[in-house]
Amino acid sequence: MHPAGLFITFEGIDGAGKSTHIAALADAFRAAGRGLTLTREPGGTPLAEKLRDMVLNDAMDPLCEALLMFAARRDHLAQVIEPALARGDVVLCDRFTDATFAYQGSGRGFDLTVLRQLEQWVQARPDATGLRQPDLTVWFDLPPDVAAQRLAGARVPDRFEAQPVAFFQRVAEGYAQRLAEDPARFVRVPSDRSKEAVWHGVRAAFEQRGWLQPAQAPA
Ligand code: TMP
Repeated sequence: MHPAGLFITFEGIDGAGKSTHIAALADAFRAAGRGLTLTREPGGTPLAEKLRDMVLNDAMDPLCEALLMFAARRDHLAQVIEPALARGDVVLCDRFTDATFAYQGSGRGFDLTVLRQLEQWVQARPDATGLRQPDLTVWFDLPPDVAAQRLAGARVPDRFEAQPVAFFQRVAEGYAQRLAEDPARFVRVPSDRSKEAVWHGVRAAFEQRGWLQPAQAPA
């Protein structure tokens, strides 16, 4: 008997600081002896990584962008996420469908009804028992002007990072909307604080659910 798989996703606007906390959680789950799959969207398979390169860098219209995000997701679910959950892994996934609703839906203004239809098709479980959704989504909530300051000059921006603050304001509203639609699935971590304070909030969410043991205080 292996433990039940856990599907955890991480969201936030560009510059919200997800990466270090995802890496720290991966270490914590490995230390607890759990099988771990660390992955990201768009990406996570050879095909989906090719689609990532296109969607982050090539000009395209919003429908094409949404279709490529879901095409990458379909391959990722089939090749990586569903098999990992079936063998009992903890799957830590840097972004998933909430990002499509926030970026393509709210950010670009693309039709949410079409996104909901694509979500139904792409996330149908292999055993036809409904939709695959994350067990928990950690939303790193950072004010867009703070994120913009953090990102300034950091690297050559891709098609999303190059967007103005007003775009990220809409993206943040999109995340808030997704949380309002399914609050039990989300933990919102206010991220305009020190890395240590953010990590404390992240770790506490996992301890509260019994997924990690409380960290030992240093002797
Ligand atoms: P990353 O830089 O956090 O890896 O994310 C890549 C970019 O892709 C980021 O700017 C958000 C964007 N994105 C979407 O627009 N829609 C999506 O569905 C996903 C997964 C990412």
